Amino acid sequence: MPFAPRHLLLLVSGAGVYSLGIYTAYHSYRIYSLPPPPPLIHTPAFQRQLQPTTTGILDRVGPDAYDAEVGGHEVLMRMGARRKELVARARGKVLEVSAGTGRNVAYYKGLQGVVDELCMSDVSEVMLRGAWESTTTSPPNAKPATSYPPTTFALLNAENLAPIPTHSYDTVVSTLGLCSYDDPVAALREFSRVTNPATGRILLLEHGRSNEYGAMDAFLDKTALSHAREWGCWWNRDIEALVDEAGLVVEERRKFHLGTTTWLVCRPGPTRGEAAAAG
Ligand SMILES: C[S@@+](CC[C@H](N)C(=O)[O-])C[C@H]1O[C@@H](n2cnc3c(N)ncnc32)[C@H](O)[C@@H]1O
Repeated sequence: MPFAPRHLLLLVSGAGVYSLGIYTAYHSYRIYSLPPPPPLIHTPAFQRQLQPTTTGILDRVGPDAYDAEVGGHEVLMRMGARRKELVARARGKVLEVSAGTGRNVAYYKGLQGVVDELCMSDVSEVMLRGAWESTTTSPPNAKPATSYPPTTFALLNAENLAPIPTHSYDTVVSTLGLCSYDDPVAALREFSRVTNPATGRILLLEHGRSNEYGAMDAFLDKTALSHAREWGCWWNRDIEALVDEAGLVVEERRKFHLGTTTWLVCRPGPTRGEAAAAG
């Protein structure tokens, strides 16, 4: 039988599937044979003992490498749709914390009139520059940048939003931030402090442990420290437990990706001071 192009295609596909199988088996075995992690490896207090801060790690990674790393995963996981649905809930005066390279920026387009003003913030100037560039550089034929709500940029630490007056925002947005803060409960209490207690909302799209699939959580726990040191992200935190601990009131909750992605609309809870006073 003569060698036809479809034979070459079959050969290449077969080699691809074979290599993928070997790669997956090798890495599964490598992770499986790692020693069991300490039982408290998912708690921020224990994580701080192992790696006191993740601040600055993404500065070294840089916005381009960050976007290149997460971009493909986000397409596969349809994260764009989750982001869009979350940002669509923003109203009034909006503070986005840990905005990073501005992966939500596109979803504020067209919300002028609903979102009166938007402040994109991050602790890292390197990352925030990416967000700023996203609003100022438009691809050819894109709608003019004026379709964004009026937008400002600020260097802010989510765990201590001291420059921001109490109850001054209608909406706080945090996506993939709780994995990165050294003290995520302190950050959530700050979100509560700056949000209007009567009508304000805190919008969260976060990733963490699944609490549904033991094998998934075992994988996240075993690889958590090396992942945190490389990417500044603790991917095994219990997001809903942190939200509960901070006292936020969950109004709407959705789970995706075997329970590892959590989408929440919350009302603010007690501030840090109020929580301390209540004991
Ligand atoms: C995983 S990235 C997520 C970025 C963006 N929100 C997104 O959805 O792609 C985490 C971001 O949190 C920022 N970050 C880490 N610690 C922070 C802190 N204490 N306050 C504010 N931002 C912080 C990092 O600089 C980084 O931009």
